[in-house]
Amino acid sequence: MTDTTERTARIDDLLARMTTKQKVGQLIQYFYFSLPAGAGEGIDPFISRQPQAVEAALAEGVVGSLLFVTDPAETNRLQKLAIEGNEHGIPLLFGFDVIHGLRTIFPVPIALAASWDADTIERAQTVAAREARAVGIHWAFAPMVDIARDARWGRIIEGAGEDPLLGSVVAAAQVRGFQGEELGASEHIVAGPKHFAGYGAALGGRDYDEVDLSDQEFWNTCLPPFKAAIDAGAGNIMSAYMDLNGVPASGNHWLLTEVLRDALGFEGFVVTDANAAKDLETHHFAADAADAAVRALNAGVDMEMGIFQPAFANLIEAIDDGRVDTARVDEAVRRILVVKEKLGLFEQPYVDEADARRVLADPAHRDEAQRAAERSAVLLRNEGGILPLDPDSLGSVAVIGPLATSQRDTLGPWVFDFDLGETVTIAEGIATRLAGKASVVVEQGVAEPKRTFPSMFEQFGDTSPSAPADFDADAALDRAVRAATDADVAIVVLGEQQDMIGENASRSDLSLPGDQQRLLEAVVATGTRVVLVLMNGRPLDIRWAAENVPGILDVWYPGTRGGSAVASLLFGDTAPAGKLPFTWPRTVGQVPIHHAITRSHAPQNQDKRYWNEESTPLFPFGHGLGYTSFEYAEVRVDAERVGLDGTVTVSVDVANTGDRDGVEVVQLYLHQRFGTSSRPLRQLAAFERVEIAAGQTETVAFRIGPDERRYWSAATRDWVLDATVFDVWVGGDANAQAHAEFTVG
Ligand code: GLC
Repeated sequence: MTDTTERTARIDDLLARMTTKQKVGQLIQYFYFSLPAGAGEGIDPFISRQPQAVEAALAEGVVGSLLFVTDPAETNRLQKLAIEGNEHGIPLLFGFDVIHGLRTIFPVPIALAASWDADTIERAQTVAAREARAVGIHWAFAPMVDIARDARWGRIIEGAGEDPLLGSVVAAAQVRGFQGEELGASEHIVAGPKHFAGYGAALGGRDYDEVDLSDQEFWNTCLPPFKAAIDAGAGNIMSAYMDLNGVPASGNHWLLTEVLRDALGFEGFVVTDANAAKDLETHHFAADAADAAVRALNAGVDMEMGIFQPAFANLIEAIDDGRVDTARVDEAVRRILVVKEKLGLFEQPYVDEADARRVLADPAHRDEAQRAAERSAVLLRNEGGILPLDPDSLGSVAVIGPLATSQRDTLGPWVFDFDLGETVTIAEGIATRLAGKASVVVEQGVAEPKRTFPSMFEQFGDTSPSAPADFDADAALDRAVRAATDADVAIVVLGEQQDMIGENASRSDLSLPGDQQRLLEAVVATGTRVVLVLMNGRPLDIRWAAENVPGILDVWYPGTRGGSAVASLLFGDTAPAGKLPFTWPRTVGQVPIHHAITRSHAPQNQDKRYWNEESTPLFPFGHGLGYTSFEYAEVRVDAERVGLDGTVTVSVDVANTGDRDGVEVVQLYLHQRFGTSSRPLRQLAAFERVEIAAGQTETVAFRIGPDERRYWSAATRDWVLDATVFDVWVGGDANAQAHAEFTVG
């Protein structure tokens, strides 16, 4: 990596010598993949010639970046084309969806968030970055930092849930993991937080639908994780697909310039989501592709991620006829070249293929993935302490459910370069753990549930398997019931297939898909002890299970070593310590739902807003049990009153009252009793993950200063600090009861 002076000189020189077409080329990113013969022809003639068309453009030096290449030999080959095919030799930036691992697959992002453990999250993305950089990928389209409060929205799985503070901590940890100490660090890559901004509030939870967001929700809830990612040094931001308050995010000057640049101080480059510039025409916002390109660039987009014939190709003419300033184009090119410079691509554009193979095979990466999976699981229920199971006292164990044996589902969505063969399923993990101790019988029980409409990845052949045509459902259920009847314990693995969650995977229902509920009830009816293991990315309607199944462990989609991690948790080698990153509704009728609501009117009835069912959640935000118990003593404040800019230290003694060492995520919730705006009853203002030995007590202290109390008010349309009285609650979830108060002003 060169120093700033050299860097600027090189970029100034290139800008002075590049043609307009070459400058515009730097602003274009192409998907590079070969589609099945004939695929896409009806959509756009360009896509059927994609590889050839892209390679021709590479040689001409009119491509800035490619995505969807993960083979080091290919990245080297294409890089060579781009560098040696023309007089400027500007290296390509290879971007990719490195969402939760590349070859070593980690738990899905919502699972990593459930660890509430910034160090684990940073370590996970450090491994992902190392594997990506080794194969020639320089940039991750991650972290996804969209706040999600509607479980119907499938992309809830890709983020950190509903809370801006947890989301901010997770976002910053991911950026540090991807980028290292500073952008350009070896074995690290550019982080590209997405989707800017507000995407998670899609109308009805319907992915891609418009978002109407109030200013206070925008500034207080949606934006903080993006700010945290930018403050952590993120080199890129991806603009979102959808209309935000009537203006498409990728053509929204207020959003991409006044907010992102002026308010948040972002200095990196902005890329659109896939085809989102050209789609400004689809939105009926732009008149045609040329208008779309001009308005995206002038709004603040620097690079177009193009699937088909790129809209940005029209910029050449737009510059000539004055619809776009050359200065704006140069600014965008410069932002992109700066990143290429910082990554050292001008000096070292190629990767060592032998080294790539070694890095991808590193067993230490798999160990990290297992460790992350163990720390991400959330123990939702443990009636009578059914968990952990004692492997030495079991004679036989039944493992039941189609997800228990599915390697592909164990990995979850947004994985592409994985090694399926090395993926440890939950059934395999249990069988390995119990080898020589207990017999393990595995029964599918029901057919794999299927989506009604195909997933977006179906066209690439990646979808969950279908039951064979001659699948005998009654016989399968009978075998599962018999296995449970004969077993000392039945471990039932249920949830959603990996293609039922993620992008283009919104759902109008939260029930267990297919016949899984019938299977669960049949297994419980045998009278055998039952533990439910959930594989999911959104909260599911498990009201019946929450009443009838003593042990419920949510393991999400736990990744390459998922089965090993789940076995370790079920049999007590490790203890679950995860906490829910979202509020868990009883039913889909409650969504959107979250913990940070205001008192509003008639707060005494807040648990009975519906006449037919409690309106409280099934499990609160921040909920999660362990294999020990914790008690919170009284909360102490070091000052009863502070000035407007003052800081109060809030401390609490937390005792581990069980007989096992344990980890507790101590959470502090804040509420101001009056002020410029009504504020959340329970605003998560701080948290700390603490290890407490059996029988010991730890004191946990938090500093609550102006930054924790400041918010954007719709009354003044500005940031405010109120002189008021604050309630403080500290505990293990959003229903924390240990209380204190202090006055400000
Ligand atoms: C997708 C997603 C985005 C992803 C991009 C490239 O449609 O919206 O999150 O990074 O396209 O795959």
